[in-house]
Amino acid sequence: MGPFDWLPRAPLEPLQLDWLNGVELAVLRLDRIDPLISGNKWFKLTEHLAQARDAGASGIISLGGAYSNHLHALAAAGKRFDFPTVGLLRGHAQDTPTVLDLKAFGMQLHWLGYGGYRARHEPGFWLPWHEQYPHLYPVPEGGGGLAGALGCGVLVEQARAQLGNLGWADYDAWWLAAGTGTTLAGLVLAEAGAHPVYGAMAVPDDHGVAQNVSDLVQGGYELLEASRSGFAKVDPVLLDFIERTEQACGMPLEPLYTGKALLALKQQIEAGRFAAGTRLIFLHTGGLQGRRGFNA
Ligand SMILES: Cc1ncc(COP(=O)(O)O)c(C=O)c1O
Repeated sequence: MGPFDWLPRAPLEPLQLDWLNGVELAVLRLDRIDPLISGNKWFKLTEHLAQARDAGASGIISLGGAYSNHLHALAAAGKRFDFPTVGLLRGHAQDTPTVLDLKAFGMQLHWLGYGGYRARHEPGFWLPWHEQYPHLYPVPEGGGGLAGALGCGVLVEQARAQLGNLGWADYDAWWLAAGTGTTLAGLVLAEAGAHPVYGAMAVPDDHGVAQNVSDLVQGGYELLEASRSGFAKVDPVLLDFIERTEQACGMPLEPLYTGKALLALKQQIEAGRFAAGTRLIFLHTGGLQGRRGFNA
């Protein structure tokens, strides 16, 4: 499989919102790189795919939930670039819009139940899957780990190359949603201390984001609670914020990651964390396909 020379370029756009209070905000729009392989997912996959190729694998096996953005992008990439994909799914068989897409993209699915999925970190979890699919390379949940982080480093280059379009000579910090913290770690590695990276955690503390990130990088970032009482928990304030943002500037958000991250930024600006004139880059990590579950 591969090599893959598809390196999509994300546009960096200024964002005007009435709560910025003098803070200047630009968005690196990963939601706009491709209609199917959207968001941070392709960047998180590139190094895993290179490792799979080096290992002589012919395809990828990975895991996720019934709305997983990661499995969606992986399955779409498998279809587009013609490599087989297998998805191990959390819970019991159901046809969410995401799952219907996975099937249409040709991903082979196995439902692990909830207990079976919880066992994914246990030693030996992959053994039976390796026996069943010896030619497939296992990629951890969400495309995480060091390989996932390294693939995201190029985003820093992409943003810097477009600063001139905004009339910016430099910027002060990054702001993005963190689910496993892999994308954040990739930015921190690429920044190498040049600019801090703020991660708005879309999951509660016990999901281990802090540990994941500190396993990959030392310093140069800050994690903030933004899950609003739990992963995938939505509330009227959040939904109203997403709708108002879309009306105000036309940028779509979904409620699990990007909506929570931008709302957390608004709250921090209101609390006075950033002085007027601070220049921030918000990383739009995509995930809009997962929004269909909420619309339904
Ligand atoms: C849309 C979206 N944004 C952000 C994230 C978080 O990325 P990471 O797991 O690298 O922290 C994810 C996935 O986990 C996602 O699907």
